[in-house]
Amino acid sequence: MAYETIIVEIEDEIALIRLNRPEALNALNSTLITELSEALTEADRNDKIRCIVLTGSEKAFAAGADIKEMSQKSFVDVYDEDLFGPQIDAIGRIRKPIIAAVSGYALGGGCELAMVCDFIIAAENAKFGQPEINLGVIAGIGGTQRLTRFVGKAKAMDMNLTGRFMEATEAERAGLVSRVVPTPKLIPEAMAAARKIAEKSQLTVKAVKESVNRAYETTLREGLLFERRSFHAMFATEDQKEGMAAFLEKREAQFRDR
Ligand code: CAA
Repeated sequence: MAYETIIVEIEDEIALIRLNRPEALNALNSTLITELSEALTEADRNDKIRCIVLTGSEKAFAAGADIKEMSQKSFVDVYDEDLFGPQIDAIGRIRKPIIAAVSGYALGGGCELAMVCDFIIAAENAKFGQPEINLGVIAGIGGTQRLTRFVGKAKAMDMNLTGRFMEATEAERAGLVSRVVPTPKLIPEAMAAARKIAEKSQLTVKAVKESVNRAYETTLREGLLFERRSFHAMFATEDQKEGMAAFLEKREAQFRDR
């Protein structure tokens, strides 16, 4: 499918989705966020895709929601259309893993979009921030909620109240990103991580994603019970038999997603 604001490539069962509005540093306008949620939903449905990498350009993952498009909107406009809500919720429901490969600016909605993904690999030049306060608004798609869960109250307050940017090394230290790599290695590293995931049984990949996400949505007791039952459920799969037999026979497992 041809899109106006994103580029989708499929390689080795990985969908590589690039945000592509260079003139606006990949700011999220209504076309981009709608196309992105459609492309991700399509990738989720496509049996030939086992993992997704979401990236921007070297200068910007995304510099936030599109300020030009939003500036004249009223409360009634944004409330009535539920600005960003349906698309971000749809992205949050994707069952396949999404790796955010972040280079350059990930600000406002850009930082929030990266946080909706399953984990973030950052280039050394990445800069994260929630500068909405400078525009007379607050974060609207997770910058006060997901960021607080990822980096804790002190840093989330600091970022949201001062609007300062966080460099990649600080973001890694704080737990916002899983790894930092030299900028030219970002896409190869993210694709290699995606290929590793693509080798696994897709049943277990889905179960891991569901179970880790539970940690953000429920109590520890409920989360642990969910994890234990999911672990038990894996014993109903052929891939559990294959994975354990392969270990005992000292060979590579051949998973069949069954
Ligand atoms: N919306 C619309 N256009 C944007 C944009 C945005 N968020 N960010 C950058 N652009 C545009 C600029 O207007 C500029 O366009 P023109 O050439 O037509 O003037 C172009 O991208 C290049 O930007 P700059 O010239 O500003 O580039 P720079 O290198 O000097 O600065 C920057 C880069 C620090 C990222 C700066 O562009 C910036 O501060 N951008 C805004 C960041 C921001 O405030 N994001 C939060 C948005 S609100 C939000 O996201 C709400 C939410 O939670 C959902």
